[in-house]
Amino acid sequence: MNLLILGDVMGASGRSALKNNLPKIIAENKIDFVIVNGENAADDGRGITKLIAEEFFLKGVDVITSGNHIWDKKEILEYIKIEKRLLRPANMHKDLPGKGINIFKKKGFKICVINLMTNMFMLKSENVFKKTASIIKNIKLKKNVDFIIVDVHGEFAGEKIALGHMLDGKSTLVFGSHTHVPTADNIILSKGTAYQTDLGMCGDYNSVIGLNKKIFLNNFLKIKNKQKNIPASGKVTICGSIVKANNKTGLAVSIKQL
Ligand code: FE2
Repeated sequence: MNLLILGDVMGASGRSALKNNLPKIIAENKIDFVIVNGENAADDGRGITKLIAEEFFLKGVDVITSGNHIWDKKEILEYIKIEKRLLRPANMHKDLPGKGINIFKKKGFKICVINLMTNMFMLKSENVFKKTASIIKNIKLKKNVDFIIVDVHGEFAGEKIALGHMLDGKSTLVFGSHTHVPTADNIILSKGTAYQTDLGMCGDYNSVIGLNKKIFLNNFLKIKNKQKNIPASGKVTICGSIVKANNKTGLAVSIKQL
């Protein structure tokens, strides 16, 4: 099983790069399953809409994960109730709509995708370690499902790495999202789980985490009237990783950055 995981898609330019390149990337790398973090895909970089999600699915995305920006576009509160391929962090308050875990069937395999959000410097949510422990009690690799993929959306690398080790041997792949900065620590952990602290973003890197660099800097320096940050709209780099997984064990064989 070849898995393609893509980092946070940033604004309209990130979307158009994905739209123009995803089918080719899928074909060239014989990808079987695609996950993208879509919580910054709206024009202003905040949230996602039904239209955008459906465009992603049409281009070959199997599951969209998210994080702290999931509720920024109010229409998503209704859409996430009916669209199972769009996930929000599982450790968000239980009364919020949508789900953070779902099992998808593809090419004869059962693939479980889990979306989590860390606790430090993030929106308040349930303790991510306790939540993870309760989830993996019930979902077991090669018992209930063939592959388990976990998106850990968060700011602090230490929490993501600790979760990677917690899930080592119990999941196919654990990857981080949210910081928009790709890390070079893509590895196979000692018990066979592929891990990367952050995939980076699909956006314009001549920016500050995908946002217009002039506005962002001016807002920090407070030298002029404060302006709303907007996504940078220059040349986009698509960032993510490709994970090859063993169909018999459900564990990872390789993880290479895209
Ligand atoms: Fe985020």
